[in-house]
Amino acid sequence: MDFKVADLSLAAFGRREIQLAEHEMPGLMAVRKEYAESQPLAGAKIMGSLHMTIQTAVLIETLVALGAEVRWVSCNIFSTQDHAAAAVVVGPNGTPEDPQGVPVFAWKGETLEEYWWCTEQALTWPGGDGPNMILDDGGDATLLVHKGAEYEKAGAVPSAAEDDPEEWKIILDLLRRTVSDEGRWTKIASGIKGVTEETTTGVHRLYEMFKAGTLLFPAINVNDSVTKSKFDNKYGCRHSVIDGLNRATDVLIGGKVAVVCGYGDVGKGCADALRGQGARVIVTEIDPICALQAAMDGFQVTTLEDVVGIADIFVTTTGNFNIITAEHMARMKHNAIVSNIGHFDNEIDMAGLARVPGIEKTEVKPQVHTWKFPDGKQIIVLAEGRLMNLGCATGHPSFVMSNSFTNQVIAQIELFTKTDDYPIGVYVLPKHLDEKVARLHLDALGVKLTTLTKAQAEYIGVAVEGPYKPDHYRY
Ligand code: NAI
Repeated sequence: MDFKVADLSLAAFGRREIQLAEHEMPGLMAVRKEYAESQPLAGAKIMGSLHMTIQTAVLIETLVALGAEVRWVSCNIFSTQDHAAAAVVVGPNGTPEDPQGVPVFAWKGETLEEYWWCTEQALTWPGGDGPNMILDDGGDATLLVHKGAEYEKAGAVPSAAEDDPEEWKIILDLLRRTVSDEGRWTKIASGIKGVTEETTTGVHRLYEMFKAGTLLFPAINVNDSVTKSKFDNKYGCRHSVIDGLNRATDVLIGGKVAVVCGYGDVGKGCADALRGQGARVIVTEIDPICALQAAMDGFQVTTLEDVVGIADIFVTTTGNFNIITAEHMARMKHNAIVSNIGHFDNEIDMAGLARVPGIEKTEVKPQVHTWKFPDGKQIIVLAEGRLMNLGCATGHPSFVMSNSFTNQVIAQIELFTKTDDYPIGVYVLPKHLDEKVARLHLDALGVKLTTLTKAQAEYIGVAVEGPYKPDHYRY
């Protein structure tokens, strides 16, 4: 088996944590049981690009239990939990000397070159074939396949412009080495039945490609299952934003002024958590609806410029770029904590910060750095501007990820087994499946659901067994 992880001797520790996580992931375990016999993913070759954590290990082993062959990478250079990666490679029945699990190419602290090399490895089955399904988080695997196929069609890989981001130059270099006259990426693209995408940012990329007419295979937008974005993005971040701050800095949050940029699902979870710790939370927004929601929830809403000099903690949650600029950071208080929990690192202008004349960067510990300005004042930047809950802590806990990943497994089964029902486009799972995911998580929390009477169901115009809401309902 080909693979590359940090240290296989961590596998036993990883396995013990996987066993604890399985208990906290009732949705995934129920799906394993439901499909154990029918093996709906037999023949599926799934390439996954999603944070290689303990929770993801349970997802991977669920896909395998349903018949799939799997190869995996992390979708961020800092988010791998090395014991999880080791346990997945070794597998439940293997040993470090005789690994029998799934090929994983991921370790905590990859360089960007290594990150894209890993992505290429996971997209390449032994013998040179590609996967027939992608499970993506943020869209990097989907992007590589699309760009490779696009440049093969054009007959050349373009040169990077000097001011292109470093990462884009690395991607172009990789493609220059790997596009081929025989159409390596074109073949991989044509063999893919579909992609299921985990997060807001990746979904945004898919809709853009579909609009531009460049999308090469159908996609299921897992993010916009209600049981994903209204749970993982919100309640997951409500947990892991604090975990990231605590593990990175251990600063007392109570009494501090915290600024949350963006009041979407992630922003709502973060603002709630920071308030729960006793911080005075200020929100910034561009959308009047979300701004009004924040105000009604009791938060001050203003611009970053107004409060940049008085806040102690900053968290960006927008999925947009250049939210906190170098000029903002120069105006912050001494030891202000600057962090991002959105998918990509460009929410904070780290490149601009590095260009400030005379700026001095010091590593306090991995993923925690001070940046000292020439006037002696410094700020603390978490995870180099990458998502701090996975860079500085261990991401979301198992129970909430069970909701997200049960959607992922159901979406993989949908696209793989009903390919003809999904012409190229971007789809969300039907509501009855969304409700099914929620249902699978009720018992574990001791929730007792009220059952509609037939007369009540008729009165509100739904079936007794659901779905209970129209598609336009917003929860
Ligand atoms: P969303 O679209 O619900 O929320 C983003 C909010 O930011 C919107 O309300 C938007 O109006 C606002 N916004 C955009 N530009 C802004 C600006 N310049 N200033 C202030 N506000 C601005 O998206 P969601 O689901 O909250 O996701 C946000 C990001 O977090 C995405 O990149 C997503 O992929 C990522 N994500 C990260 C997770 C993690 O564990 N770290 C988990 C889930 C999502």
